[in-house]
Amino acid sequence: MLSQKTIDIVKSTAPILETEGTKITTCFYKMMFEAHPELLNIFNHVNQKQGRQQTALANTVYAAAKYIDQLEVIVPVVTQIAHKHRGLGIKPEHYPIVGEFLLKAIKEVL
Ligand code: HEM
Repeated sequence: MLSQKTIDIVKSTAPILETEGTKITTCFYKMMFEAHPELLNIFNHVNQKQGRQQTALANTVYAAAKYIDQLEVIVPVVTQIAHKHRGLGIKPEHYPIVGEFLLKAIKEVL
């Protein structure tokens, strides 16, 4: 269980994630692909160019912060995203890479 203090801190980040989200995720993909070019071939480059991935990831991170105290609201979407990632063949070892570069991008942009 998250403490009330953690919930309050996470919730307080929601407004900046809403306004700066795509700036953060754009920076995230750039940094991650520079460090891990091997991941380039699992992403759809048209969606990347059109900014769809940047927007989808930003919206999800924002929703996770906003609904940190009402996770049941986002469970249906998270379940759908999880199925999509399984279908894409994303492996457990990929998640720490995304976590690392998401935090680096948040630090860089904010
Ligand atoms: C907490 C971690 C993650 C979140 C919140 C997340 C979020 C998302 C979202 C919202 C989408 C769009 C889904 C849709 O279009 O229906 C997506 C797609 C995708 N994600 Fe993730 N993701 C995460 C981790 C990862 C990891 C670890 C990888 C692999 C390095 C990855 C690779 C992909 C790929 C390849 C797509 C398809 C995008 C495309 O080619 O257009 N994701 N992700």
